[in-house]
Order: sequence, then C-alpha cells, then structure tokens
Amino acid sequence: MNPQHWPLYGLRLRTPRLELRLPDLELLDDLASVAADGVHLRADMPFTVPWTDASPAERGRAVFQHVLATVANWSVRDWALSLAVLHEGKVVGRQDVMAKDFAVTGEVGTGSWLGLAHQGQGIGTEMRAAALHLAFAGLGARTAVSAAMTDNPRSLGVSRRLGYLPDGLEVAAVRGAPVTLQRLRLDRARWEAYRAVEVTVEGLDDCRKEFGA
Ligand SMILES: CC(C)(COP(=O)(O)OP(=O)(O)OC[C@H]1O[C@@H](n2cnc3c(N)ncnc32)[C@H](O)[C@@H]1OP(=O)(O)O)[C@@H](O)C(=O)NCCC(=O)NCCS
Repeated sequence: MNPQHWPLYGLRLRTPRLELRLPDLELLDDLASVAADGVHLRADMPFTVPWTDASPAERGRAVFQHVLATVANWSVRDWALSLAVLHEGKVVGRQDVMAKDFAVTGEVGTGSWLGLAHQGQGIGTEMRAAALHLAFAGLGARTAVSAAMTDNPRSLGVSRRLGYLPDGLEVAAVRGAPVTLQRLRLDRARWEAYRAVEVTVEGLDDCRKEFGA
C-alpha cells in the first residue's frame, strides 16, 4: 500500500542488485528480525549509540520503533529517511539518509547496517551509492557526510570507494570508553567522479517537497 498521506512510502531506489524503500509493517518486521539475528560480533561495537548490545528481541523492537519514529518525527527542517534494503527479494539491512535544514545547507548524512550474513559482498557499497544518488541527483545535495570508527574497515572502505575524503576526527564515549571516529565528506564533484553504480529512483516527484529540496 502507498498511503496518499505519506508519499514517501512510494519512493523506490533500485541498483543492479538492490531495492531500497521505506518499509511497511510486514517488511519492517522482517528488518527487525535481521537485526535480531545479529549485525556484528559481540566484541565489536560500530555504533556510537550501542543499541546492538541489547538482547535479540530488544534489538528487533529497537529497529521497529526507530523506523516508525523517523516517520512520526519527520519535518521538512529535520528528517531521516530509514530505508529497508532488499537483495533478491529479501530484506538484508537498512540505509538511512538524514538532514537538518536541507533547503539551506544542501548537506545530508548517512548511516547503515547489514545483517551479519550479508556483509562483505559489496552490498554496503551499493546501498550507500543508492542513498548518494537520491541525495545528489534526486534532491540536488551539495555535500554528503558520514563517520565511522577508525577500527571499522568495511564502513571506511565503503566511503573510500565512493570518493569521500577524510574530514577530521572526533572522540565519543561508547560503552564507557573513548572511541575515535573518522569523519568523512563527499562533495558533488567527487560524487560525479566516483559514481559507478547504476541507480534509478521512482516516486520522487510526489515527495520531493518533503525533503525541502
Ligand atoms: C559497514 C557495512 C554497511 C559495509 O557493508 P559491506 O557490504 O559489508 O561492505 P562492502 O562489501 O561493500 O565492502 C566495502 C569495502 O570494505 C572492504 N572490506 C570488506 N571487508 C573488509 C575487512 N574485513 N577488512 C578490510 N576491508 C574490508 C571491501 O574490500 C570494500 O572496499 P573496496 O571496495 O575498496 O574493496 C557492513 O559491513 C555492516 O553493516 N557492518 C556492521 C554495522 C556497521 O559497521 N555499520 C556502519 C557503522 S558506521
């Protein structure tokens, strides 16, 4: 169902292997199960908010509530689009794109995760490329930013592959200890130069104004 009062549900991003869309309740339930099954090894913590330390059932509920909250809290001045990523028809993870005052800044941020079983196959690169295509080609963004812990080679690898440049370090408290994050930044020219994934966008005209684009 594509609700007429929330046209973002009609938005579809497609790459050669993936489809990204805002999940309806059934798909959201499947996405929650992917999180419950595990996103990383217990010893690691790639997130500054350590939501994956919870039990499998709680992780699932956290994902369910997070995605619904992004819809409930959406405003043109502060939005987060939390997309389910489907590979071969099955949900494998989540790709978020967010911005504050996008109409003024032209800048988006991203965040993502895949279920453990789906990592290391280039899916993370492909889904971030889809998010960047939405931002730059679809919404006219000028810059995209991201951040990853300095000991997260896969996330840093995705950013490097797509043309981001280092943008300084920051320190955060995670599990009561200091961790260093590498900030990353991609401008429009480098996005153009590094884009290698074919992406199509469907349904954007009906919801472009929701982004302040
Ligand atoms: C981060 C994440 C989304 C990346 O997706 P992915 O599909 O696993 O990554 P890809 O297969 O696209 O690989 C991306 C790059 O990392 C490299 N890479 C993959 N595994 C690696 C490893 N163990 N060590 C070093 N580099 C690695 C790949 O070679 C690739 O770089 P290249 O294109 O230059 O060769 C995914 O691994 C994940 O969900 N991890 C757990 C949650 C997380 O860390 N989220 C991000 C928080 S900032």
